[in-house]
This record gives sequence, C-alpha cells and structure tokens, in this order.
Amino acid sequence: MRAVTWQGKRDVRVENVPDPTIQEPTDAVIRITSTGLCGSDLHLYEVLTPFMTPGDILGHEPMGIVEEVGAGVPDLQVGDRVVVPFQIACGTCWMCLTGLPTQCETTQVQGEGMGAALFGYTRLYGAVPGAQAEYLRVPQAQFGPIKVPEGPPDDRFVYLSDVLPTAWQAVAYADVPKGGSVAVLGLGPIGDMACRVAQVQGAGQVFGVDLVPERLRRAKARGVETFDLRSFDDEKELVEAIRDQTDGRGPDAVIDAVGTEAHGSAAARMVQNAAAILPRKIGAPIAERFSVDRLAALYTAIDLVRRGGTISLSGVYGGMADPLPLLTLFDKQIQMRMGQANVRRWSDDIVPYLTDEDPLGVDDFATHHVPLSEAPHAYEMFQRKQDGAVKVLMQP
Ligand SMILES: NC(=O)c1ccc[n+]([C@@H]2O[C@H](COP(=O)([O-])OP(=O)(O)OC[C@H]3O[C@@H](n4cnc5c(N)ncnc54)[C@H](O)[C@@H]3O)[C@@H](O)[C@H]2O)c1
Ligand SMILES: [Zn+2]
Ligand SMILES: [Zn+2]
Repeated sequence: MRAVTWQGKRDVRVENVPDPTIQEPTDAVIRITSTGLCGSDLHLYEVLTPFMTPGDILGHEPMGIVEEVGAGVPDLQVGDRVVVPFQIACGTCWMCLTGLPTQCETTQVQGEGMGAALFGYTRLYGAVPGAQAEYLRVPQAQFGPIKVPEGPPDDRFVYLSDVLPTAWQAVAYADVPKGGSVAVLGLGPIGDMACRVAQVQGAGQVFGVDLVPERLRRAKARGVETFDLRSFDDEKELVEAIRDQTDGRGPDAVIDAVGTEAHGSAAARMVQNAAAILPRKIGAPIAERFSVDRLAALYTAIDLVRRGGTISLSGVYGGMADPLPLLTLFDKQIQMRMGQANVRRWSDDIVPYLTDEDPLGVDDFATHHVPLSEAPHAYEMFQRKQDGAVKVLMQP
C-alpha cells in the first residue's frame, strides 16, 4: 500500500510499504477514506525528530471502512464505517474505566515511561504505524473505533479522531463558569474548535489570539473576539487589551492551543533546532532533558488568566528544564490541567452535535482536501501556513 513516511527533518515521502494484517484477535484493519494532518504532526516534522526512525508511517486522525476483524472484536463487522481515535486503549483497565484512556495500563509504553500508545507518534508512544496510509491496523479494536452512520461526508465525523475530543477536553478542563470568559491562545484547528465548543457550551465571552490573518478571520466570523499578536508591541500589551474586556481581572480561563512551537523565544528555538539535527543518540537526550520548549504562549496564559482562574493546556510540550514562574502560579492561585485528549471519554457527548444543523461547523472546517500522494506538499503548506491552510484532510 501507499503510506506517508517520515524520512528526516522536514522530509516526508509517500512510499510503498507492506499492507497491514491482523496480528492479534483484538485487531481490525480498516481501509482509510479520510485522514487528517495535525499540528502534532508538525512536531515530528521538525522538533521531535530524535524520537523518529526513517520509514515510520505518520498520521493519527483516520476514518474509513472496516476491511477485516479479529475474533476478539465482536462489535465490528466488515463494511462498518468507523472513526479511529488517535490513542490506542483497551477500555477495560483501571485507567480506561476511570475515563483516562490516554493512560491505558494495557498499552502504556512503559519502556519509555509514557502513557497509552498513539498511532504514528514516535518511539516514545510505541512506534505504532500511523494512519496517513491506504490501510491501518487498529490494535484494541474492541474499544477504539467509533461507528458512524452512512450518508454524510467524511468531514462530518473525521474530527472525532482528535480535533473534537481535544477541543472538548480543553474546554472541560478550562472549567469556564456559565456565562464566564475564556481566552484561547492559538487558532489552529484545535484552538479554533475550542472556541466553537466554548460557545456552544455557553461561555459568555470567547477571546482568540493568533498571528495568522486568515485564522483570525475564521474565528472572528464565528463571533470570537480576536486579537492579532502582531498588532501589539509585546505580550504585556496584549494581556492589558484582554483584561480591559474583563473588568480588569483577566478571563476566568485560558486555553493554550499553541504548544512548544510558539512564536516568541529565540533561545529555545536554537536548542530545538540543535536537538533536531544532532545524531539520534545525542539529540534525543537533549530534546528530552533540556529546554526544547518555547514557552511564550504558556507564559502569556499565566500572566493573562485572572487570579483563581484555570489554565487548560492542550498544546503539546516536550521539554523538562524550562523555568516556570511558580511564584506567580502560586500567588495567583492558578489551577492547571493538561494532557492528551481522552477520546472515548468525550466522543458520546460530542456525537449529538454532528448533525445537519452543524452547530460546530465541521462540514466546512477543512480548508484543503488533497490526495495522499500530495502529502509532502501538504506538510510544507500547513507548516508554513501558506495558501490559507488551517485544516488539511488527505484522501488515499
Ligand atoms: N492534547 C491533545 O490531545 C492534542 C491533540 C491534538 C493537537 N494537540 C496540540 O495542540 C496544539 C495545536 O494544534 P493545531 O493542530 O491547532 O496546530 P497549529 O500549529 O496549526 O496551531 C497553532 C497556532 O498557534 C499560533 N501561535 C503560535 N505562537 C503563538 C503565540 N505565542 N500566541 C498565540 N498563538 C500562537 C500559530 O500561528 C498557529 O495558528 C499543538 O501543540 C498540537 O500538538 C494536542
Ligand atoms: Zn491530531
Ligand atoms: Zn486500558
């Protein structure tokens, strides 16, 4: 089959690889009909390269048709239309039963000290072949795949794999009071969708911050009060501008949907670049132990949130030794929640919103639909934010 493979820093290629097969009774194989490109893929494209192996298949946002099922997957039939969550979880361990499938005790990557295995996401997360491909082997298929009805186009459902539950969890963790205020930093797919979720859940004020004009325009068109980072001299000025809209206190909650590649700190960028080009044996420990994070967005969140408010981190951070202003966190009495989205914890809550009325605007959320063969171009376009690219779906 054809699959998108990682070959090196900013180098992905579509190659022929062996077709996946059933290896365990709890496996299924699906034929992929749509598969997303995610901000998380961009971390692999550039920053997390020490944890990748040339030939790794990328991707974790698929949907498609069941081709084959193992004997231990009673609820799936060949021909079912399914969305596959980005994390692999068993559904029956203690963590899964408490609603934390990202910590699944059956699939945890213990050798690396990490949580549940993820599709297409470095050896830290199990080096599982990913979903930007024609076919996908789905381990733990007795729990993961979400059956969706025939009829509507893939765009209606495909975001259940990642964008929707991630945005949903970001808002749930932000704990915005009814009628309260929330600021979303970063208006990529995750931040944009988090604004929409906050709106349908009854937030009184939703602020959005980014620096890419069409991303700001998209959010503004849906009633978000947007702030263009580039129009402020420094982040202090931005914080003041948003505080002015919230009786001088700052919003009840701030969602960081930016992550480690924030625009801001030049020093961190240097360490990231260095770690990405060093030989693996040296680069990986550097990326893991030393500051590879650019914390610009997180620092803004800490400054911006009101005293006693909540910061919800969905942007991915990967470093260890970054200085954090603990005095401010403590003095402002800030609560902080974070983590990979627990997809099946939220999916049943989200499905009722995926209707013809389309309150979350999923049907036209994608800015680009491209054939899988154009993946190298799609990665470059999405990373450089060219051609208005916000969400790219690929069709094998
Ligand atoms: N927690 C999860 O389960 C989960 C799931 C999916 C994605 N993510 C993470 O969420 C983050 C966002 O994902 P995405 O797909 O929307 O990616 P993206 O890269 O398209 O979006 C990031 C946005 O942040 C903006 N930005 C950069 N610096 C900023 C700053 N200082 N202030 C405000 N905005 C700034 C960028 O212009 C961009 O629009 C990534 O870190 C991704 O890895 C987490
Ligand atoms: Zn994703
Ligand atoms: Zn489990």
